[in-house]
Amino acid sequence: MARTLTNILVTRGAGFIGSNFIRTMLKKNPNFSGRIINLDALTYAGNLKNVEDIEKEFGNESCRRYFFEYGDICDREKVESIFRKYNIDTVVHFAAESHVDRSILQPETFLKTNVMGTFTLLDCAKSYWQNREDVLFHHISTDEVYGTLDKNGFFTETTAYNPRSPYSASKASSDQLAMAYYCTHGLPVTLSNCSNNYGCYQFPEKFIPLMILNMMEGKKLPVYGDGKNIRDWLFVEDHNTAVWNIINNGRIGERYNIGGENEWENITLLNRLIDIVAQKSGLNADKLRNLIVYVKDRPGHDRRYAIDCSKIKTELGWRRSVSFEDGLAKTVEWYIENTDWVESVRSERYLAWTENNYKNRINE
Ligand code: NAD
Ligand code: DAU
Repeated sequence: MARTLTNILVTRGAGFIGSNFIRTMLKKNPNFSGRIINLDALTYAGNLKNVEDIEKEFGNESCRRYFFEYGDICDREKVESIFRKYNIDTVVHFAAESHVDRSILQPETFLKTNVMGTFTLLDCAKSYWQNREDVLFHHISTDEVYGTLDKNGFFTETTAYNPRSPYSASKASSDQLAMAYYCTHGLPVTLSNCSNNYGCYQFPEKFIPLMILNMMEGKKLPVYGDGKNIRDWLFVEDHNTAVWNIINNGRIGERYNIGGENEWENITLLNRLIDIVAQKSGLNADKLRNLIVYVKDRPGHDRRYAIDCSKIKTELGWRRSVSFEDGLAKTVEWYIENTDWVESVRSERYLAWTENNYKNRINE
């Protein structure tokens, strides 16, 4: 049965990946002519500045294809009212409190939002759709649910789940719930597990934007442990074109791995970033390198993530389109130029948190 993609509910569309998804869909996708409803609780990581351009272009009377709804995904009444008000036929669920370090210190909000929030959405979709088959619930997840790899091997769609942080445990739980709603109730569900994203509008608690901004401000560059942990990096727009492929043509009840086939040790990536920042800002690369400081490791720090994404490539024809070189250059330029955005997302609470995180990690 052909899928209806007319009224898409994007949860957490004021965050990093969600806002990029909305931008990609409305500005760059001639094959999408429907409406997007963005439900976000505007927590510390959510910011309406991330979607200001979208609101201006697509949220006005002459072109009304974008709607913002302030609210929590755990609030059942609110979610139900949105399904009714907009006649939602597709959910793209960017469920998350997303930062691993925070989940170690404050796990409760992760369980509430990631697990109970996902449950609420799934249950509302089931009640509202009443066995319709032309609808879709796409659940966004992470490669962290698979656990950690040593030097060899890749995560495939059949790798057993082995979450090791409160964040990944909460994501694993929400993934299993989504699949349970498919198996038990026949809810049309698809799921994707993606590797580390980077790009514009990423909250500067994550490795790449944190390092760029610290360099610009002459602050220390804290590297956890020996700096040899490996992540597989993907430009955020490539993640979102993969999601677009899945919501159009993915098979119901299937999961798809999405990855950059682009593995970097943290310390090697940091040195690369230093060269780019130096080149774009005129700062001295050697002085920037002197800011590197090895700090106490993250507890349970996963050693290596690497995604085998051959399924989505073969089945749906998806390919990564942005090279790491271009993606990093674009990202560095964006953070250097968008100082207003940087100031607007960095509240005193944020500055205190990153400062504390750093102090707690300095080796004796
Ligand atoms: P983010 O932290 O940038 O954004 C989270 C957003 O969720 C914010 O806008 C926040 O206001 C909103 N939010 C939080 N709690 C809410 C609630 N209870 N109700 C409504 N809104 C709420 O997150 P991100 O990095 O864009 O990640 C989005 C999704 O992608 C998550 O599911 C994450 O697990 C997944 N993912 C992220 C990455 C990555 O590298 N960032 C990689 C793979 C998968
Ligand atoms: O793999 C996908 C996941 O990627 C997503 O599910 C998460 O939402 C997202 O936050 C990200 O998790 P990571 O823990 O890999 O990302 P983070 O940017 O926090 O850290 C990347 C690597 O850099 C990791 O090995 C820890 C290290 N690190 C991080 C910070 C913030 C440092 O060495 N120093 C730092 O200051």
